Amino acid sequence: MRVHVIFAHPVETSFNASMHRMVVETLTEAGHEVDDCDLYAEGFDAVLSRQERLNYHDTDINRQPVAAYVDRLLNAEALVFVHPIWNFGLPAILKGYMDRVLLPGVSFHISDGKLTPGLLHLRKLACVVTYGAQRWRAMVLGDPPRKIATRMMRATMKPGTPVWYLAQYDMNNVTDAQLQQHLERTRQKLLKF
Ligand SMILES: Cc1cc2nc3c(=O)[nH]c(=O)nc-3n(C[C@H](O)[C@H](O)[C@H](O)COP(=O)(O)O)c2cc1C
Repeated sequence: MRVHVIFAHPVETSFNASMHRMVVETLTEAGHEVDDCDLYAEGFDAVLSRQERLNYHDTDINRQPVAAYVDRLLNAEALVFVHPIWNFGLPAILKGYMDRVLLPGVSFHISDGKLTPGLLHLRKLACVVTYGAQRWRAMVLGDPPRKIATRMMRATMKPGTPVWYLAQYDMNNVTDAQLQQHLERTRQKLLKF
């Protein structure tokens, strides 16, 4: 498959950066064609401008400022997000990607006020994420990033499209050995992507 990897972390020595490298290498090893988008390295501008908001619903022109990113998304057969959880949400650069690229006419369509999915060409989504908190704490707070993946993103794709949420919780307490285990478990899973 053509897999579009979207990575959001600013530090090249971080655990997320290791996960990102592993994800790209593993998918390539498994025979996929990877289009790797490192949002920080590419200098993605996360801010939806005044003009973009004014043009948001005009599907003839709304994608123009991010046309290259929309093309990459539409060219993909599968998506993999790699990122940490910040303030029980997405890093701002990834939130900005969603605001600016997941547009009407791209990830969804609106007709007579009714929404239908736009990413019908996607066959799979995986989210490879890390939390500082333990799982129970995230659950108490409703775990919004998990819902963005398994509900919001799922709603942009064909019903039944698999969504894998591959999370490491408790980053504040896990040992190096546990991190290596998680990396290897995720690698094994992605070999079957
Ligand atoms: C700005 C910021 C906000 C954070 N907010 C949360 C949070 O709301 N919930 C959580 O579980 N962890 C939170 N964390 C912890 C990160 O999830 C954790 O540092 C990360 O998963 C570790 O991966 P890394 O070493 O690759 O950065 C936050 C960290 C930062 C820097």
